[in-house]
Amino acid sequence: MAVIPVITIDGPSAVGKGTAARLVAAELGFHLLDSGALYRLLALKTLRLGMPQVAANAAQIASLAEQLDIAFEADDGNTRVLLDGEDVSAEIRTEAVGARASEVAALADVRAALLDLQRGFRRAPGLVADGRDMGTVVFPDAQVKLFIDASAAVRARRRHKELSDKGKNVNIASLLREINERDDRDRNRKVAPLRPAADALLINTDELGIHQVKSQIIDHIRQCLPDQPLPGSTDC
Ligand code: CDP
Repeated sequence: MAVIPVITIDGPSAVGKGTAARLVAAELGFHLLDSGALYRLLALKTLRLGMPQVAANAAQIASLAEQLDIAFEADDGNTRVLLDGEDVSAEIRTEAVGARASEVAALADVRAALLDLQRGFRRAPGLVADGRDMGTVVFPDAQVKLFIDASAAVRARRRHKELSDKGKNVNIASLLREINERDDRDRNRKVAPLRPAADALLINTDELGIHQVKSQIIDHIRQCLPDQPLPGSTDC
């Protein structure tokens, strides 16, 4: 049976990997896995259940992860995200949910509980998966792996612009603090810490716009998979 190609795009918070992944998936006609959305959905669920903190409730959160009722629906170029049948696309993007997501994501049982769900997104003709551990843990056999990075200051400015465009007025210094806290937790956790896979191409995006990032990724994919959409060399 033909191998279904997977492109992994990992990187830290607010680096633009979600947008890059969406553009690349659209160009290739591939499916998309926004793995961060799964952690955010689980985080929202724990907040709605009124759990004051995660560490003391790890087993319960892992079993919630196994039973998550979620759906991703295409909506005019965007994706609508549903939790228990309700559209929570905007709510899962708040900083409060992001901070809780990074806490639940540090729990080993939670990560294990979400593995099969994530691997289930690998469907023909191919998948673009973005997150923290796509190339290292979830799809170690991916045909093409990328790790995109940028300094914390640049990422805080990007997140600030994203929020301002949505009419939200957030202090850039507090965004920078949150990004640094989240980076610290994501990079230093014991399970699946944020780090590039040994075979990932690193792209620093400090000086690159999103369309340049997308072009570099597409160029790399074309080199690794010359016969795209058919699987090609696995040298990448
Ligand atoms: O949008 P942003 O990059 O800030 O966050 P996200 O990609 O939506 O992920 C939210 C949180 O989920 C991150 O801070 C990570 O702690 C966690 N996460 C993870 O641990 N592993 C993944 N594959 C994806 C996200």
